[in-house]
Formats: sequence, structure tokens, C-alpha cells
Amino acid sequence: MPAVEMKPDIYWVGVNDRTTDLFEGLWPVADTGVSYNTYLINDEKKVIIDLVKAIKTDAFFDQIHAVMPLSEIDYVIINHMEPDHTGVLKTLHKIAPDITLVGTEKMKQMLAHYYGITDPVRVVRDGETLTLGRKTLQFFEAPFIHWPETMVTWEQTQKVLFPCDAFGSYGALRGTIFDDECLEPEFYIREALRYYVNIVARFSQPVLKAIEKLSGLDIQMIAPSHGLIWRKDPARIIDYYRNWAELAQGGGDKGITLLYGSMYGNTEAVMDAIAQGLACSGITIEIFDVARIHTSYILPALWIHKGVMVGAPTYEGRLFPPMAQALDMAVLKKIQNKKAAYFGSYGWSGGALRQVKSMMEPMQWDFRNIFEFQGGIEGDVLKKAEAFGREFSSDVQSE
Ligand code: FEO
Repeated sequence: MPAVEMKPDIYWVGVNDRTTDLFEGLWPVADTGVSYNTYLINDEKKVIIDLVKAIKTDAFFDQIHAVMPLSEIDYVIINHMEPDHTGVLKTLHKIAPDITLVGTEKMKQMLAHYYGITDPVRVVRDGETLTLGRKTLQFFEAPFIHWPETMVTWEQTQKVLFPCDAFGSYGALRGTIFDDECLEPEFYIREALRYYVNIVARFSQPVLKAIEKLSGLDIQMIAPSHGLIWRKDPARIIDYYRNWAELAQGGGDKGITLLYGSMYGNTEAVMDAIAQGLACSGITIEIFDVARIHTSYILPALWIHKGVMVGAPTYEGRLFPPMAQALDMAVLKKIQNKKAAYFGSYGWSGGALRQVKSMMEPMQWDFRNIFEFQGGIEGDVLKKAEAFGREFSSDVQSE
């Protein structure tokens, strides 16, 4: 997409990435794409804010060149060191070694470790300003959104916040960069939640701290480094992020995430009966086959719903491995204080339940409802399963 002037002399000069399959080598983005938003300020001093992944490097430099020659740039502001925002830095430094790189003290250390660059670097302190001419930048440390070196940049005269990862989303830009021109904002909200839980959720307390720290600013535009730029309603994306961050303490709506894995269909048949029981009360249920659906799509449901139903058989004396992987990711992302239940089959001796219990412990899930059965769907297993679902649904609703 060609450069866009967002405010007088402030330009979006980012790139869309529709060829990376896995963001961070882990999270699927083949269907949605992702954008790396870079910004250019044309004042007496010329500034680039954040860079892009080492992809489409020529296209990126062409974007800048469409506004001004690279040789005129004075500063590159590095809000965050992750290579999706610094990948082209080594090349840029070779082409234009006099550009001063601006960031926190931790950024300076990481710059040396990642790219062997030590000079010219300007370290800025929390709240420090940089006058460009007509415009003035101010820098606020925002550690752990998403790494320890992270800061956000505030342009005081046009009241634009450049928060890098914060308030971002998956999803390549589809013809417009602005929220008010976007005909499918729900796509970006959905992808912002998936991005939040995949990338930022573990750092929810720093997110809340940063939102509080920035609350005194009269923000007219939020220009994150992934996804839409919010100019019509910047408070909307802040509110979403605040609400999601607050869920780190637990809770959520009265919906249930039903995770299951099944080797020969027995656990799946019981899952269907349990889903019938759950559905009786009209509660929201999201069902995921953990062996087939990537954890990236499961985590958002776990994050926003209070109830979790885990269904998987014993496999070689342990929990069915795809379920163990899904729960392990929930532990990593600190999905805490849920109301949980377990069901599953075993052939001759159990093992899955023991592992489920130990995995739920660090997440402090309230885990009381258990339904295990041996072998196949014999006798009144399905009837009991439906009743088990009904009971759990009422437990979640009564919270
Ligand atoms: Fe978009 Fe943490 O990098």
C-alpha cells in the first residue's frame, strides 16, 4: 500500500505481510496476514518510528523514498526491539550509518546483542522530549508491552500515540489504514483479541499499568505497529485492551470453552452428550478439537469465558498429548482462576486425570467436576454425560 498522510507531515509507511505463515514462528496468520506499521515525520528533523520485519525490504525503503530520501532521516525511534519491528535495521544502518537510533537504555543493550550496533544511539528517559521543529515527541517507558525495553512515543502537537505492540492486532490492512474507513472493524477486533491472548496476555498487569500511566493524555489517534489506526474512536481499542487485561485475574463471561480430543470417537461421543447438557441452559459454548485446531484460536475463548470443560482420554498412562499441549500453553499465557471440569476415557488404567489436576494447579482453576469412564460407550454413559454437562453449566451460571 502506498504511503498515507495521517496528520499534517505524519505518514504511514508500513508494509503488509501476507506470506508469513506463522507469526513469531508459532501463531498462524496465513489467513489474515499481518501489517508492520511504520511512521514517518517530516519536520525540521526527520524521524521514522519503528521499522518492519526483514521482508519486502525494497518495498519498505521505497515507501520512505516516496515521501523523502532516506539520506534526510535524522532519527529512528525504536519503541520495541522484536525483529518484526527491527528486522531491516542492519540493512538500514549499512545504507545510512549516521541515523541516530532512539530508545530506552535496555533497547541500547539489546541493539548490540541483536545487531551489533552501538552507535549512534540516543538513550531517552521516561517522559523525556525530543523537539523536531514544529512537532515534539515525548517518550514513556512501557516495560513488557511486550518486552522489557519497550516504550511508547507521543507526538504532542497532533496528539498521536505510537504504542508499537499495544493496541495492535493481526490482520493485514485491507485498503485503508483507519478505523472509520474500515467496513469490517469486527474482523480487527476479533484478531486483536487473538493477538492479545497469543502475544500480550502474559503481560496484562504491565498493560493495565501503561493504560493508567497514559490516561492523562488527550489521545486523538492511536497508531499501533500492527493493524488499524484508531482516529475516530481511539478509546474503543483502549477499552477492549483494558477489559481483556482485567480478565488476567480470572473470571470472564458465563460461557464455556469445551476442549476435547478423541482417539477412536468415544470421548467425542461423550463430548456431544455433554454439549447437549450444557446447551440446555442456553449458555454460550465454544467447542475445539485440540488435535486439529491450533492453540492460537483456542486461547481467546479460554481467556474470555469463565467455564472450561476439558475432555480427553488417557494415552500411554498420560493425558492425550494435544490436550497437554493446549493446557501447557494456557499455563504459559497465565489463564487463571477458571471454573473447570474434566471428562475422558481410559482403557485399562488411568493417568489423564492425574496430569490434568497437576496442570490446572498453577493456574488456580476451581476444578471439582469429573466424569471418567472405562472403554467405550456402554450402558448409561451418554445419559450420565448429558447430566454431567447440565450440572456443570448450572455451576458456571451460579458463579
Ligand atoms: Fe510486534 Fe513484540 O513485536
